[in-house]
Amino acid sequence: MKVLVTGAGGSIGRALGRGLPGLGHDLRGLDLVGDPAPGYQHDWVVGDCLDPDVVDAAVRGVDAVAHFAGDPDEGSLPSSLESHVHTTARLLEAMLRHGVDRIAYASSNHAVGRTPHDRPLTTSVRPRPDTFYGTAKVAAEALLSLYVDRFAISAVAMRIGTCVAEPTTVRELSTWLSFDDAVRMVDAAIRTPAPGYTVVHGTSANTRGWWDLAPGRAIGFDPQDDAEHFAGSIAARTQDPDENALVGGPLALDDLVRPAF
Ligand SMILES: NC(=O)c1ccc[n+]([C@@H]2O[C@H](COP(=O)([O-])OP(=O)(O)OC[C@H]3O[C@@H](n4cnc5c(N)ncnc54)[C@H](O)[C@@H]3O)[C@@H](O)[C@H]2O)c1
Repeated sequence: MKVLVTGAGGSIGRALGRGLPGLGHDLRGLDLVGDPAPGYQHDWVVGDCLDPDVVDAAVRGVDAVAHFAGDPDEGSLPSSLESHVHTTARLLEAMLRHGVDRIAYASSNHAVGRTPHDRPLTTSVRPRPDTFYGTAKVAAEALLSLYVDRFAISAVAMRIGTCVAEPTTVRELSTWLSFDDAVRMVDAAIRTPAPGYTVVHGTSANTRGWWDLAPGRAIGFDPQDDAEHFAGSIAARTQDPDENALVGGPLALDDLVRPAF
C-alpha cells in the first residue's frame, strides 16, 4: 500500500520507515523539518500538518494515512488541541477530498490516564484524560469516530503505551511497545478489512501487561516482544507503586499546569 506517515522524522515515524517497507508498503513521509528519514528517501514532504495546502498534496495518491505528527508531551490546551485535533481534522478533510478511506491514529494511554490500575484495562473504559495532552487525544479519537460514522472511511485509534527502544522503569515493563511491534500494529491497522472505528491498545505482549490485547488481535495485530526481557536490568524505585496506581503513570500524578490558556 502507498502510505502517508506524518511525523515521519520522529521517534516512532523513523521506526515505521525502517519496518513498513519490508512488509510491502511504499512510504511518503511528512514532517516539519529534516532530511528524509530512512524508508522515505523517495517521497518526503517538509511541511506542517496544520497547513491545508501541504496536507492536501501529501494525502493525494495514497491508500492510507498513519498519523504520528504531534507533540508527545504536555502543553497548553490550545497548543495540544492544535497539535492533535486540528492536524487530524486537516488530514480527514484531505482524505475525503481524495477518496482515501483509512487512517491509523497514534492515540495514547493518556486519553484514559486517570483510570485506576485496579483491573484489566479494556478499550471501552470511559475517556479519562490525565492532562491537556490526553484531553486532545480523547478529542482526536472523537473526531475520527465522527468521520467514520458520517463518511465512508475507517479509522483505528491506537492507544500507545510507552514506545521506546527499551523499557527503563518498572511501569514500562507493563506499558512498553517495541518499535518492531509498533510496525506490526500499524501494518495491521491499515490492512485489516473495514474496521469501522476501532480502538486498540498499543503495547507489546508484556508478561506484566494488564491492557486487553484482544481488540488488537482482532484486527491482526499480534505483538511479539515482551518487556520482561529487560526486567533484570531495571532497578526498583520508591516511586514505582505510585507510578503504577494510574494508567497514565508519572504524567497522571504531576500537577495540571494551569491556567489552560
Ligand atoms: N512515544 C510514545 O511512547 C508515545 C506514546 C503514546 C502516544 N504517542 C504519540 O505518537 C506520536 C509520535 O510520537 P513520537 O514519540 O514519535 O514523538 P516525536 O516527537 O519523536 O515525533 C513527532 C514528530 O512529529 C513532527 N511534528 C509535530 N507536529 C507536526 C506538525 N504539525 N506537522 C508535521 N509534523 C509535525 C515532529 O517534527 C516530530 O518529528 C505522537 O502523536 C504522540 O503523542 C507516542
